[in-house]
Amino acid sequence: MTPPLLSVQGVAKSFDRNRVLNDVNLEVGRGEVVALLGENGAGKSTLVNIVSGALQRDSGVVRWNGQEVVFRDTAEAIAAGIIHIHQELSIISSLSVMENLFIGTYEAGRFGVIDRKALRTKSAALLAEVGAGHIDPRMEAGRLSTAEQQMVEIAKALARDAKLLVLDEPTAALTPHEAEALFRVVRMLQERGVGVIFISHQLEEVFAIADRIVVLRDGTVVSDLPVKEASRERVIADMTGRIFQGFSRNHEAAHGDVVLAVEDLADGRHVGPVGFTLRRGEILGVFGLVGSGRTELIELIAGVRKPASGTVRREGKVALPADARAAWASGIAILPEGRRPTGSCRTCRWRRT
Ligand SMILES: Nc1ncnc2c1ncn2[C@@H]1O[C@H](COP(=O)(O)OP(=O)(O)OP(=O)(O)O)[C@@H](O)[C@H]1O
Ligand SMILES: [Mg+2]
Repeated sequence: MTPPLLSVQGVAKSFDRNRVLNDVNLEVGRGEVVALLGENGAGKSTLVNIVSGALQRDSGVVRWNGQEVVFRDTAEAIAAGIIHIHQELSIISSLSVMENLFIGTYEAGRFGVIDRKALRTKSAALLAEVGAGHIDPRMEAGRLSTAEQQMVEIAKALARDAKLLVLDEPTAALTPHEAEALFRVVRMLQERGVGVIFISHQLEEVFAIADRIVVLRDGTVVSDLPVKEASRERVIADMTGRIFQGFSRNHEAAHGDVVLAVEDLADGRHVGPVGFTLRRGEILGVFGLVGSGRTELIELIAGVRKPASGTVRREGKVALPADARAAWASGIAILPEGRRPTGSCRTCRWRRT
């Protein structure tokens, strides 16, 4: 019997005294898409970082094609065919797309000169393969959209002859249409026998793309099921350790006092004037297409973006926050879409744009 492509057995990892992975087992076969699920902080990224050589395990065994391996760094894992596309993309904005594709791997010719024409032809072929043939390889990578940058990263994985592709929350910043394009590429890779570890918080896409679902909770694998045997309810219960009964809405409370009243709020560019009220206990959804100003609206309310006009009232008091710190002090918290560039304590340093 041929061994699985990847087999992780009994892996443990701690940061200082904080144990974040506990006796973890994980297998990925050729052409298999394994979804790795778990709540924030469950240990998903840590686990895949160990697989791709970015972190070292404290104990346990990793086998690659049946052979025990220790990748001392990502370069060793890449050489073996394990390509990890991180939660935060690693495109170098100031380089061209083709330079990004072949960085560190392209060999110069006899006189130390890189044949740019050959590089361009190869790049165009790779981009076409991942359905991104419209991208000009000479273009500066920083000018690409997130979805395009991701396609460049996947094209780069193809250039490096990936056998296992690790995608850590690849769709978090994509529109449904862009995510669909990504899934087409994943399916194509799968048909070629590439194994995929797919981390996502979007259960619908997990059920659409995965062959198997592995759930981590507090660093321990709590379930490992073929997708056919899994259900949303089961997966959520495994992830959280609780039975999910939907959002508990307190309808009485939802008809309580107005806690936030937004009037004629506008940024003088493309948001507003917008107005709405939010009552205690209410959940208000903001819907719109990409570019319609959803994020900007929230940033105006949270003091991150400077409004041109309008008011924001918190519990009756006019409280157009001076900045994110003032908004926080008045009880408005924001969880931004890009947690590395704008999240956590950096929020305090956010300036108005
Ligand atoms: N370099 C590090 N140093 C110290 N602690 C870390 C480090 N990286 C991760 N952790 C901690 O390890 C735990 C697991 O983190 P990890 O990033 O693996 O979670 P995750 O499942 O990927 O979460 P998310 O869904 O938020 O991406 C967390 O408690 C985190 O704070
Ligand atoms: Mg993570």
